Amino acid sequence: MHTYESLGNQFNIGHLCSTAQCDAGLGDKIAMRWISAHLERTDYTFRDLDLLSNRFANVLTGLGFQPGEIFFTFLPKSTEQFFAFLGSLKARVVCGTLFANFGDEALLDRLGDSRARGIITKKHFLKKIERIRARLPGLEYIILIDSDEHLGDGVLSYQRLMAEASDSFVVAPTGPETPSVLHYTSGSTGKPKGVLHHHRSIISQSRTTAEVLDLKSDDLFWCTADQGWVTGTSYGIIGPWALGVTQLHYAGGYAADVWFSLLEKEGVTVWYSAPTALRMLMREPDDLYRKFDPSRLRHIYSVGEPLNPEVIHWSRRLLGREIYDTWFQTETGAIMICNRPGVELRPGSMGTPIPGIQPAILGDDGVPLPDGVQGNLCVKAGWPSMFATYLNNESAYESKFRDGWYYTGDTARRDGDGHYWFMGRSDDVINTAGHLLSPFEVESALLEIPEIAESGVIGAPDELLFEKVVAFIALHEGVLYSTSLELKIRLYISNKVSSIATPQEVRVLERIPKNKSGKIMRRVLKAMYLGTDLGDISTLEE
Ligand code: PRX
Repeated sequence: MHTYESLGNQFNIGHLCSTAQCDAGLGDKIAMRWISAHLERTDYTFRDLDLLSNRFANVLTGLGFQPGEIFFTFLPKSTEQFFAFLGSLKARVVCGTLFANFGDEALLDRLGDSRARGIITKKHFLKKIERIRARLPGLEYIILIDSDEHLGDGVLSYQRLMAEASDSFVVAPTGPETPSVLHYTSGSTGKPKGVLHHHRSIISQSRTTAEVLDLKSDDLFWCTADQGWVTGTSYGIIGPWALGVTQLHYAGGYAADVWFSLLEKEGVTVWYSAPTALRMLMREPDDLYRKFDPSRLRHIYSVGEPLNPEVIHWSRRLLGREIYDTWFQTETGAIMICNRPGVELRPGSMGTPIPGIQPAILGDDGVPLPDGVQGNLCVKAGWPSMFATYLNNESAYESKFRDGWYYTGDTARRDGDGHYWFMGRSDDVINTAGHLLSPFEVESALLEIPEIAESGVIGAPDELLFEKVVAFIALHEGVLYSTSLELKIRLYISNKVSSIATPQEVRVLERIPKNKSGKIMRRVLKAMYLGTDLGDISTLEE
């Protein structure tokens, strides 16, 4: 576990997750057990991690990258992503990670806003980047993990660059406030915001990995999250490796039998997943699980969406294990409130704050609310992994803080014994399968479809995904709605925004309800969808 005192003048995440582990005598220990989509296994030791990330640091330095410049990974689960991530951080280049399913518009927003200078990706995704490249004057280098040759115009071969780079790299002293990781997160209005972290985040990440996830040196840890999201970097890279713990990474997607056979055969001891995946597992017949022996599995954790009590009861019954829900955000960088071994678990509650973290339930006027009353979930500012800023948007950053409290955008209540219960969002952000989605992004993309005159997008309750995306549209005069138009809409949103943004339902209205200043009244759309009271509609446009 790391502290401000123990780290002195070296907070560099890349260094602490690899070189420092070798220096501590763990060079030959397996850092990553890699399971390919075809279930082939390859092990990488901490020394491999160190040398390969050194090479990548030299690649970036050789290309002229300066500390503070921005580099992105845009890859499905692949080993190169881990080496590139740690290598960038070693060179003090900020590393952003992008979800591989992002469409053109989503990519353009993120690469454009951050003025990224480079990206590592695969040939398969090159077309997407080429389509937007003219609008990204800052993007100089595209590194392809699966091209043997440099292709010209800044499109370079990872293999060649790595072969030509030295595997020794001395990481410069890196202070706690050095920019490190960048994740874009969606709000209910405007473009996604770049959440920038500092290298000091490793203090919170390593501490929660030790104290919440309870990882010990002989554990095998599996975090199923994609590295495009904060869980995939904070706990699928940084926390465990900062403690010298072996991680399993599996390149394949969801498949209940494969997941369970990996848990059993590889002997996973601590497993971190998400409610949607757990609910999918719960739908499988009980017999499937009876074939597997989960005896090595010590703990299961969950994050990203509310964990319904049924899942906890299912796991108790079938696996004989608790599932510990954890709450955090891209902005918090590390777990803040959670259930954990040794603390009473109340199914449906997200648990209690970790030591050193002070949450509060505040009213809109900033006054603390009594126990049992729903209000704004806030956290006292100043924990080590607190985000440093929203890139290029200091005013949005400042608007998240009042009187020393960080307003999370969630609403919650606290019971009389200090357990926190998630109630919802205080904005219109949609949480589908644990991924935050901006209705605004989807609405804007819908308006690019020639047949659509107006659009309004909401999240509606869904048994599996927690929320599903529902799009309301009004068509231009003379346009008729048809199944082919619906298909076109789905495809367009998937290609432009992301597969997770694809509407599960499309409803056609004469007009989209807006208020007098033209703002879409998503609250009214939601009530229409749910068949509940429309509430106060006095501000509705005539
Ligand atoms: O609304 C909360 C929900 O996910 C949001 C954070 O999303 P993101 O920044 O993408 O990070 C996700 C992974 C940490 C929160 O504001 N959320 C996260 N964990 C929980 C949750 N909602 C309910 N219960 C949770 N355990």
